[in-house]
Amino acid sequence: MINILFAGHQQSWDEYQAPLNEALTDRGLEFSLLPSCPPEEVDYIVYDPSGPLEDFTPYSRCQAVMGLWAGVENVVDNSTLSSPLTRMVDQNLTRGMVEWVVGHSLRHHLGMDRHLFGQDGIWRSKITPLAADRPVTILGMGALGRACAEALADLGFPVTGWSRTRKRITGVEMYCGERWFNNALKGAQIIITLLPLTPQTRNCIDAKCLASLPRGAVLINPGRGALIDDSALLEALDKGHIEHATLDVFACEPLPPEHPFWAHAKVTVTPHIAAATRPESASRVIAANVWRSQTGRPLLYRVDRKSGY
Ligand code: NDP
Ligand code: OXD
Repeated sequence: MINILFAGHQQSWDEYQAPLNEALTDRGLEFSLLPSCPPEEVDYIVYDPSGPLEDFTPYSRCQAVMGLWAGVENVVDNSTLSSPLTRMVDQNLTRGMVEWVVGHSLRHHLGMDRHLFGQDGIWRSKITPLAADRPVTILGMGALGRACAEALADLGFPVTGWSRTRKRITGVEMYCGERWFNNALKGAQIIITLLPLTPQTRNCIDAKCLASLPRGAVLINPGRGALIDDSALLEALDKGHIEHATLDVFACEPLPPEHPFWAHAKVTVTPHIAAATRPESASRVIAANVWRSQTGRPLLYRVDRKSGY
């Protein structure tokens, strides 16, 4: 019998209790899943980063902490955590992100706002370019960036990707490493940031980067708010250099009501909903990893704490 602690708020426990029980049972595991348990008796922790758990020290026999989010910046450098840490990689999370990214990219590509908000009796018959003439760059080509790149390339967009390590992706021009950052962005009319937040990526979209983009470029950020220097972005929008920013994530969440992004005509705010972790499929990912650990297999989606993601 193994003890699995669900470390999260009550609402999250209410959502996960049934699907996790089902997924763990389907794996043939003998377990007890609890929202609280004496720390020294806990074998695994299902970890909701928005929950209250911060001190992992007392969980002395814990074999793995399994995060429910893809991003791990809140926990990756927690010095009290000594057990392996995994993050969420899940088909449905990826599908959600692809749909959000493709939807917002097409909105800007097709100039949909002109017709949605411009129904004023004027016949505006300007033809938009085809996708083939709209270069897109995706910063971060991991589980989510890669899937978005493939979907956009399938629609005909010329897609460039940027990652930390070298990779080949059919139909995508790839660059890797800091040295090639500017090359990856060269000529991009739509820039999508799907990087994790690490000391290396923080503020990577700064004034210099924004100035290097073609006039009229659009920024779409479902990665993390602190990838972007907010003041530099506002200045680039006000100067008309950047046409629009669609932002799902913010340095401070919820985005405070007085933040200038809310009222800015060239900013679209969505409330960190680009890709939700859905309890049914996420529970199957967690159960698979508990089963792998119990049967001596390596954990999937293990975080490399040195790299920070
Ligand atoms: P992955 O870890 O799979 O991918 C991260 C990508 O970023 C990798 O390609 C990695 O390179 C690249 N990268 C990391 N550091 C650097 C660097 N210094 N220079 C260049 N490239 C770098 O993450 P996911 O795709 O699963 O998720 C990405 C992020 O999306 C999450 O960290 C989270 O912040 C955000 N997210 C947002 C959601 C939302 O609803 N808004 C939902 C889910 C996630 P390499 O491939 O070489 O390792
Ligand atoms: C995230 C997530 O990391 O929702 O933002 O998984």
